[in-house]
Amino acid sequence: MFESISELPSSIQNLMNKAHEARKNAYAPYSRFKVGAALQLSTGEIVTGNNQENAAYPSGLCAERVAIFHAGATHPEMTVSFMALTAGSLTKETKTPIPPCGACRQVLAEYEVKQNASIVIYFMGETGKIVKANSIKELLPLIFDSTYL
Ligand code: THU
Repeated sequence: MFESISELPSSIQNLMNKAHEARKNAYAPYSRFKVGAALQLSTGEIVTGNNQENAAYPSGLCAERVAIFHAGATHPEMTVSFMALTAGSLTKETKTPIPPCGACRQVLAEYEVKQNASIVIYFMGETGKIVKANSIKELLPLIFDSTYL
């Protein structure tokens, strides 16, 4: 747990700032809840995403999956080293760290298995504390993966 962005290592501050920028472009007219995600690849490249909603509600997609599918589509041999997330409502200030939803955890777990390396995740609200998880396995124990198929 970090008290504020200024306590983060400078490269992660930069990544979190990219997530904040990406959040501004979220398309969330239904929930009025905007989420921004920024991934840092092992090459140093940064790939971003934000939530994209739809009038047929389940057709929308979370920021985390938009970001990681974007990265997977454009950098198929990638390794994702870090992920920064920021989320908050447009109708109230969100100061508590917002963790990724269960479906996003499952998708992130797939990429950790695929790349055989952990993704370090930092998540926050709009302001306030930041939580760090060293691997998606900390957020999703007993993952279901392809070894069961
Ligand atoms: N949302 C995300 O983008 N990521 C999450 O992990 C949780 C929820 C989005 C989906 C929807 O557009 C809005 O937030 C409200 O659920």
